[in-house]
Amino acid sequence: MAQDLPDTPGNTEWFVHDRFGMFIHWGIYASAARHEWVKNREEISDADYQKYFDHFDPDLYDPVQWARLARQAGMKYFVITTKHHDGFCLWDSQLTDYKATNTPAGRDLIAPMVEAFRAEGLKIGFYHSLIDWHHPEFPIDGVHPQRNDEEALKTNKDRDITKYAEYLHGQVRELLSNYGKIDVMFFDFSYSGREGEGLLSHGKGKDDWQSEKLIALVRELQPGIIINDRTEIPQDYVTPEQVQPEGQVLLDGKPVIWEACQTFSGSWGYYRDEFTWKSPEMLIQMLIDGVSKGGNLLLNVGPTARGEIEPRAVERLEAMGEWMRLHKRSIYGCGPSEFQAPPDCRYTQNGERLYLHLFAWPFKHVRLKGLAGKVAYAQLLNDASEIKLIEGQPPRRLEPDAPETLILELPAVKPPVTVPVIELFLK
Ligand code: GLC
Repeated sequence: MAQDLPDTPGNTEWFVHDRFGMFIHWGIYASAARHEWVKNREEISDADYQKYFDHFDPDLYDPVQWARLARQAGMKYFVITTKHHDGFCLWDSQLTDYKATNTPAGRDLIAPMVEAFRAEGLKIGFYHSLIDWHHPEFPIDGVHPQRNDEEALKTNKDRDITKYAEYLHGQVRELLSNYGKIDVMFFDFSYSGREGEGLLSHGKGKDDWQSEKLIALVRELQPGIIINDRTEIPQDYVTPEQVQPEGQVLLDGKPVIWEACQTFSGSWGYYRDEFTWKSPEMLIQMLIDGVSKGGNLLLNVGPTARGEIEPRAVERLEAMGEWMRLHKRSIYGCGPSEFQAPPDCRYTQNGERLYLHLFAWPFKHVRLKGLAGKVAYAQLLNDASEIKLIEGQPPRRLEPDAPETLILELPAVKPPVTVPVIELFLK
């Protein structure tokens, strides 16, 4: 990999190799089926939100199937929302009653998930919300569902963030003590810069979470784990959300390890009536684009309240899996290339192998700047069929190309794969 990566406290070696993971947003908001922020967006009170807790009965939950789906899609790790901003916990926490065990689900939903994904060979990641819209000690601020609720706001004077921080640390201790080796900790999120008025006067961040102590706790319990950047203390990697960076992500001019988290349709939790689903082609291109810029893709599914990954997601994961079956060599262990890819193309590279991904299929020729004399052999990756190299002699009746340009001669018909890849063996 032509990537000069920073040294960080955690073990990032597997992470930059594996490139592709599954994000899972699952909680009682799946019952509302209209965004995981529904409690906030609709300013729902605890009392009114309770119906989702009382009716959460994931009778079709089959983590073995989820794990298989992820593995077959080519994903190598997963990150599950142990608790989202609404405060609902998927595991059997001893520190709250607001947990899956007390819903009709009646059990710890994290334990079998960890077991199933581990059995499929995936690494394990926990997302944990720093924010908590249920905890009585969490001061109501401008992004809290009760921000306009006069009665609730009166309780603010008795709310003590340090007591909440104790709860937060205690729960993280449980999660990192009771489920074996955990590879990723994804905290979400800090907003101390956000100004409000009066009782809502400021957001929350590292002082509120006691991030320094929290990180020390995580590292003590799980040496080698990697931690994201949302506690307001930079750690192992950064997490651009629902964007594809322009190029390699830099911090102070130096490349950092990064992972773009992306959704199928815009929201993270199950959203029945959202129809802005990305095509398999776009999703595959996003994965490639990220790797070509030195990053990972954490692609989200929002299972239903019955515990299923819905058909729209399954269809896309299967399409990605079919592409990965034939092309994983251009993803795993790959990173950016020093060469400049032609228009509508992305390069990834792994040592002497350079991978040219064609997002649009050109007629007959593609010109690779700077590669004349440097390629020993080229083939389509999907079927290992030879691609002819044209050097020196330009194709018929065209002006000669720059001498350092290598021309590839392509078949007229695009191979029957979503994104064709040409594997170039460098000399
Ligand atoms: C955000 C959102 C959230 C989602 C997350 C994923 O910060 O608050 O709903 O879980 O990003 O990165």
